[in-house]
Amino acid sequence: MAVRVEGKVFHLETKNSMYQMKADEYGVLRHLWYGNKTGSDMDYLLDYPDVGFAGNIYDADTCRTYSLNTLPLEYGTAGVGDYRVPAVSITHMDGSNALDLRYVDYRITKGKYAIPGLPAVYAEEAEAETLEIILKDTATDIYVILKYGILEEYDVITRSVVVENRGEQAVTLQRVHSLCLDFPYGDWEWIHFHGRHAMERQPERQEVFHGIQESSSMRGMSSHQQNPAILLCEKGCTETSGFCIGAVFMYSGSFQTQVEKDQLNQTRIVMGIHPDTFSWRLEGQDSFYAPEVILSCSGTGMGQLSRQFHRIIREHVCRGNYKLTERPVLINNWEATYFDFDDEKLLNIAKEAARLGVDMMVMDDGWFGKRDDDYSGLGDWYVNEKKLRGGLVKLVEQVNALGMKFGIWFEPEMVSEDSDLYRAHPDWAIQIPGRKPMRGRSQLLLDMTREEVRDYLYQVISAVLNSANVEYVKWDMNRSISDWYSAALSADRQGEMPHRYVLGLYELLERLTHDYPNVLFEGCSGGGGRFDAGMLYYCPQIWCSDDTDAYERTKIQYGTSFFYPISAVGSHVSAVPNHQTGRMTPIETRAVTAMAGSFGYELDLNTLSQEEKDAVAEQITRFKEYGPLIHNGDYYRLSNPMKDKLAAWAFVARDQSRVLIQGMIFRTEANMLRYPLRLQGLAPEKRYRLEGTEQVYTGAALMEAGILLPRSWGDYIPVEMLFTEL
Ligand code: GLA
Repeated sequence: MAVRVEGKVFHLETKNSMYQMKADEYGVLRHLWYGNKTGSDMDYLLDYPDVGFAGNIYDADTCRTYSLNTLPLEYGTAGVGDYRVPAVSITHMDGSNALDLRYVDYRITKGKYAIPGLPAVYAEEAEAETLEIILKDTATDIYVILKYGILEEYDVITRSVVVENRGEQAVTLQRVHSLCLDFPYGDWEWIHFHGRHAMERQPERQEVFHGIQESSSMRGMSSHQQNPAILLCEKGCTETSGFCIGAVFMYSGSFQTQVEKDQLNQTRIVMGIHPDTFSWRLEGQDSFYAPEVILSCSGTGMGQLSRQFHRIIREHVCRGNYKLTERPVLINNWEATYFDFDDEKLLNIAKEAARLGVDMMVMDDGWFGKRDDDYSGLGDWYVNEKKLRGGLVKLVEQVNALGMKFGIWFEPEMVSEDSDLYRAHPDWAIQIPGRKPMRGRSQLLLDMTREEVRDYLYQVISAVLNSANVEYVKWDMNRSISDWYSAALSADRQGEMPHRYVLGLYELLERLTHDYPNVLFEGCSGGGGRFDAGMLYYCPQIWCSDDTDAYERTKIQYGTSFFYPISAVGSHVSAVPNHQTGRMTPIETRAVTAMAGSFGYELDLNTLSQEEKDAVAEQITRFKEYGPLIHNGDYYRLSNPMKDKLAAWAFVARDQSRVLIQGMIFRTEANMLRYPLRLQGLAPEKRYRLEGTEQVYTGAALMEAGILLPRSWGDYIPVEMLFTEL
């Protein structure tokens, strides 16, 4: 059993971790532990100093050592004397906002809870257990249900929260965070992932200072600028040693992660929907469901933590026919043609791609309505027959005849003012009456909270999917959201719109992915602006970044690898000079970098020399051989490309019989020793042969001393070595 209750102490256990909390004599739910297994009740850690200037609850009478402000709590609330960042804040009908939650009951059920309307980790009954703890406000009929999903084998605990208004009067929810996690002790650092368009998810590691630190997005999307995932690690924690905890928010809208170190050096993390663009009127007898947070911890460093997240996301977040199978190697025409294409040009690209072994042709932006630049056409999802003479069916048939699948680009949530859709339904676009809306990439957003908008999108998208043999959809989203207002909501409900937008998006994605199970959906948002576990529930892969420069990609993919599985990372070989940086890198270097993902090409292969074409054909053959190891193997970061002289990573087979190293030496140094790259994750006693040679090494030697990388010449030198057990 993963959950055990003794008295009012709750023990949650996974293979290697332990989580404990207890309802105390006042019914306050106190957090005791999240970390490695100790085999002990951890309430001996609770200390009761004089509370000083922190107040105490009324029931504690004149006791000077009991205060909500100083004790580790399971779910901190606003307005009752805990002055740390709260997890929940509610305004009652009388305008007051105190919420004093006390323990009522608990429930344990087999399997993993689901969340209505929201993505969540799923599992078979035998794989998981659910614990629900029911708390109630002392003065009202507001109940808060804390949910815990325990996936023992995966070392994962999920958390989610339901607020139930069992009274008659409405209340307004101001903040309902999905995670609150207190640590009374520890010398912590935190890593968050910041970035920008074309440079997403750059890890930044900092000491947790006194006061509040934050990583968040108010853009209506998880964003390029911050990612809804953080790591908390003990000082000195490395890839291979030390304790760390990861938290991933399974949500694609605005989010907030706060880390606070208090007066007693205790640390609290809260994570949830961003409260500054959220409020929710909760009627009597109604419930509100907060999205899920996935938690995992490791006592053996960050590499192990990442592997735990890769497994849970790949096996229990991603869904659909493609979740565990190899993805088609694709060719995308965006960087090859941008908007300037017709059926002939596409077919030309497809023909060469087919010759070289590519599996699928993806037609990107520009195939529909009037769309020759990014000023018009979004919303008009019917084929532009001036560009595709003979229509979509003919093109798809021609591509299929080459032995290739066909995929297509959509940006469903958007509308151009210069479009038939906007002319017919200007009110469907998000804008505040009396104000000019902000444009982003010259486009407006559709109000995804409205059913008729979602129905329209379902109809036009399914009409395209039904009309021809389309086997892939790239779902793009190319601007941040502002001007929050929905004509369908009353004034007192406008604060609900940002969350309702995400719920609307998820509903549409659920309908389409359910009705088209054979279509591979790839997420995208100006590259990786909505790269989160929420989108991965619908799309098993996401275009990682609009930056296709192999050198910069090593940094972007390094940051992405802390939480997200390699199979989820859309990654393509593009032309040189690179379109984002002007950098020249060898084609083999571009290929090994793109292979650490769901692999493809994004250039006109006709423009390559014969030598390069041969290289492409050989790369595709190699990828097909390595694909299962890359996607199902265990991923190891072997360098930190943010500061080391090289980028290097490895895929180790689960049975440790094969290891593939890939990477790039950034610059060659004259007259220097070769670089010894130390491997990880091998069986020390096993003997491994370096493929293509007769050289044999023990696993121990490869891990203790490392392998000498080939002598390099020039810059951005590719590295790829395969070791096989003898
Ligand atoms: C975004 C995507 C690109 C491409 C363009 C098309 O920027 O990230 O891959 O699809 O839109 O407009």
